Amino acid sequence: MIIQTQDDVTAAVLQEMHRTPDARTRELLALLVKHLHAFVREARLTEREFQDAIGYINAIGRETTPSHNEAMLLAGALGVSNLICLMNNGALGTRPTQANNLGPFYRADSPRCEDGASIVRSSTPGSPLTFRGQVTDAGGKPIAGADVHVWQSSPAGLYENQDPSQAEMNLRGIFTTQADGSFSFRSVKPAGYPVPTAGPTGALLAAQKRHNMRPAHLHFLIHKPGYKTIASQVYDPEDPHLETDSQFGVTRALIGNFVRTGSGYELSFTFQLEPGEARLPKPPISQKVTA
Ligand SMILES: [Fe+2]
Repeated sequence: MIIQTQDDVTAAVLQEMHRTPDARTRELLALLVKHLHAFVREARLTEREFQDAIGYINAIGRETTPSHNEAMLLAGALGVSNLICLMNNGALGTRPTQANNLGPFYRADSPRCEDGASIVRSSTPGSPLTFRGQVTDAGGKPIAGADVHVWQSSPAGLYENQDPSQAEMNLRGIFTTQADGSFSFRSVKPAGYPVPTAGPTGALLAAQKRHNMRPAHLHFLIHKPGYKTIASQVYDPEDPHLETDSQFGVTRALIGNFVRTGSGYELSFTFQLEPGEARLPKPPISQKVTA
């Protein structure tokens, strides 16, 4: 159709997109255009703001490298990652869930470890931590033979992929649940850390006078055929940024209980899996930053 005024633009675009053969793609793109146009109208977006927005989106791509995923970081800072997670887990968002954001720092192919092994692979500060996990189905029945990918930042504030001074795959490992659904490993108690601010996510946080801290946590990804694969994070209840997480990951169900022992801490946590598709996510990064 020939556009006469601004009122015609949305209909013109939708009409051209109507031929999209795949039904879900057609639905998603139509909704995207409707909401995007509605946003532009409601915000009365100026030409200068539009140019700034285009530059901002282009910068997300420029900032992204094999060792850094800016789009994933921004999705977290906008609350989209956790919204999608909570809508798609916990009986489709009707119940609390141990599922949580994958985050921008998951790497596939970390080393397989014996039960109880340490994931500290180079000199790392922090108090010793023993983690004892349990993986069950929704009815509490133990799930044996599940792969549990584990990763965390160094208490110095960086994941190994961000930090050439840490060994390759430091504080990462893959464990397998035992016959009773348990797994355990040794590490260091995590500390809160700042998310990178060199790119568009940092600009967003600065413009909104938001801090860039994440409360201390451990990451998990649990995979077993027959069950929906979940990413999870377990948070430190004493972290000062629990209520203002810059990635909006913290949920009530994921606040852990670190118990002091003679030499460090112990943390026990149970993860429940739902029936569903066992599918490993595409890793947001593929390698460590070079010096
Ligand atoms: Fe993290």
